[in-house]
Amino acid sequence: MAQALAHADDATAAPPQQGGALDRLRIVGGQRLNGAVRVSGAKNAALKHMCAALLADGALRLTNVPTGLRDIASQTALLAHLGVRVDAQGADMTLRVNRLTSHTAPYDLVRKMRGSILVLGPLLARFGRARVSLPGGCAIGTRPVDLHLQALRALGANVLLENGYITATAPQKGLVGAKVVFPSASVGATENLLMAATLAKGETVIAGAAREPEIADLAACLAAMGAVIEGAGTSTIRVQGVPSLHGAMHRVMPDRIEAGTWMIAAAMAGGRVVLKDADTQHLAALTGLLAAAGVTPTPATGGDLVVEATGDRPQGVDIMTAPYPGFPTDLQAQFMALLARADGAALVTETIFENRFMHAPELVRMGADIRVQGNAAIVRGVPGLRGAPVMATDLRASVALVLAGLVARGTTEVHRIYHLERGYENIVEKLRALGAEVERVPGQFA
Ligand code: UD1
Repeated sequence: MAQALAHADDATAAPPQQGGALDRLRIVGGQRLNGAVRVSGAKNAALKHMCAALLADGALRLTNVPTGLRDIASQTALLAHLGVRVDAQGADMTLRVNRLTSHTAPYDLVRKMRGSILVLGPLLARFGRARVSLPGGCAIGTRPVDLHLQALRALGANVLLENGYITATAPQKGLVGAKVVFPSASVGATENLLMAATLAKGETVIAGAAREPEIADLAACLAAMGAVIEGAGTSTIRVQGVPSLHGAMHRVMPDRIEAGTWMIAAAMAGGRVVLKDADTQHLAALTGLLAAAGVTPTPATGGDLVVEATGDRPQGVDIMTAPYPGFPTDLQAQFMALLARADGAALVTETIFENRFMHAPELVRMGADIRVQGNAAIVRGVPGLRGAPVMATDLRASVALVLAGLVARGTTEVHRIYHLERGYENIVEKLRALGAEVERVPGQFA
């Protein structure tokens, strides 16, 4: 159960209390997608950069922040609680710690999003202590954060788990650099350690580091603040600790998962979609698989990427998620939606998160033929999907249902779209601009 709920960016978030929480999306399928779409800044990078502001003596100015996202709002609320002044205007955000008002990241703010655990390293490194609620709703206590804790202990922190909270204190003279060997790659643990190491005394070597581009982007942001880091984006990162970090400016990298989602959408629906601000280098694994399925994205002038497709059934191709540079788990649900109406069968293997298949039964409600067994799913492509009322269960699952709705016959209603709003900025507007027939319908799910 704990594993099933351990989807990093998808959390077990309870529905937010404010109005609109239970709105749904109504999609009439069958429209082709045509036009240009600008990819927003990466949520999974911006969330970490925001935490890095805790390390700086001056203001950290971030640009290209997807400020419209619910997760960014949650992180803003958490940082404001700690005493960080956060000013956002459009996609610009300035964060400054004038005076830390709390060392505690409380349950109510943390449970909404797992990315909040990234305040742990910075608080500990700069202020000597941190108390952070264990993330996750009903999975509390079992949701793994062991690698984060192992890493901070290696730098000399005293770490206790009590009453659902992680309590960490640094030795009196501060954290001390060390060699940390991760037994398996964890994005969050690598990032927590990287941030903590910037202010630790001496050298920290992170072996077995995760290689996701968001880590390299975080390192670039930290370097702009005065940190000394080598090797971010590879499996060995070296950090030379410095006494303090200063304010800086950094542009958040484009969201590769959003870009990938648009690529899959275009491949499914047909038409011609131009992606603005997508970093194609980060999408090589997806591009290769899309080509095998019959749709080859092509680079265009000015760094744009064009996805042109007939909307005919794609070929079934097997996918297996893996740490970067492998196929991202955060695109598995979307690719499964594409495979649902492929010509042929395909095996989807999920190696990062067990049971990350909550979208499968919902796709089946739309006529898909999917059989899940353990960490694999066999998707036998059907000629067409049918619109149906479906339930979003997490962030990437919910967008997969939207994609299925775009190609289904008739009307699909995706309930609980607050999940979607955690990670897709202006998704309704973006879809409509491409010609999709989508509207947001207020109301309760009966
Ligand atoms: C991040 C992303 C998430 C993405 C995931 C994998 C954010 C906010 N989220 O999540 O969208 O799906 O990377 O690319 O950036 N694990 C442990 N012990 C730990 C930490 C992790 O066993 O202490 C396990 C996890 O349960 C999982 C695997 O390691 O099976 C990878 O998780 P990790 O890379 O840490 O994911 P997150 O950083 O949480």
